[in-house]
Amino acid sequence: MGKVISFINQKGGVGKTTMAFNAAHALAKNGHKVLAIDLDPQANLTLLFKAENDPNIYQLLVNSVKELKMLHAPAMLSSVLKRGSVDLLPAGQELSGFDLTVAGINAPRQLVLRKFMEVNDLRDRYDFIIIDCPPTLGLLVINALCASDGVIVPFRPDDFSLKGLEHFYQVIEDIADMGIVKAPEVFLHVPNLVDLRRKQESDDLAKIITSIDSELGEGKVFSPFLNKAGLVKSLSSRKSVFDFKTQEFSELQEKFSGVAKKIEEWSYEHI
Ligand SMILES: Nc1ncnc2c1ncn2[C@@H]1O[C@H](COP(=O)(O)OP(=O)(O)OP(=O)(O)O)[C@@H](O)[C@H]1O
Ligand SMILES: [Mg+2]
Repeated sequence: MGKVISFINQKGGVGKTTMAFNAAHALAKNGHKVLAIDLDPQANLTLLFKAENDPNIYQLLVNSVKELKMLHAPAMLSSVLKRGSVDLLPAGQELSGFDLTVAGINAPRQLVLRKFMEVNDLRDRYDFIIIDCPPTLGLLVINALCASDGVIVPFRPDDFSLKGLEHFYQVIEDIADMGIVKAPEVFLHVPNLVDLRRKQESDDLAKIITSIDSELGEGKVFSPFLNKAGLVKSLSSRKSVFDFKTQEFSELQEKFSGVAKKIEEWSYEHI
């Protein structure tokens, strides 16, 4: 059975999409069958895949809820799924209306994505399903959490990170307390856009690592990603770092291969 892993942080611009995109490609490079799901109405991941997105995952999710029959659109998984070295279920602006759309249904609103994945046997069809989440802790992200086995949290080390992380762990605990699904495990935190020359930033990062170590046990924080021009270059040409052959990219390739290795090791421990 494939593993579902979400990239989540309620803060914007911390590298969720960048990490999800490159980690998905690193896993595919290792021979895994990988599906990426874009759950963000901004559709940044979809843009990186240069994918057409009408219809998109929103219509598939709505179509999967029987009670929403009057809103069903003529969209099928086969016409929405984009095939490539990494497959993609694209996002669209319509996703911003997801909360309202499902507000009145009797079926569990937090399980729409999970049910959709079950009905379509997505876990059986892929080794890894990578979900890129919007910068909120709204219903879409709760759906991602309830459908996931594991979570990776990219973050920028600053004063607010620790508070934000604590709030996020509380949300995961709330999901566990509901007792409907097994809450996913936050198995990796990735410090991103780190400037180690700034003392304040190094201090903040050290504090955050100590706090995560004591709360979740050691080994759950990846080595920091620095601010890398190469990453910006690859993203603006909508390519993964593995599409480049120059020396400039070998370090970034190593880092993302390292993230993929963490994902593989974690998933082998959780068969
Ligand atoms: N290590 C890095 N070095 C340089 N630029 C980076 C790095 N990581 C991310 N970026 C840049 O930072 C910006 C934000 O990254 P990204 O879109 O991945 O964040 P996000 O968390 O998905 O944002 P949002 O919350 O809006 O979805 C992008 O323009 C990206 O190119
Ligand atoms: Mg994003």
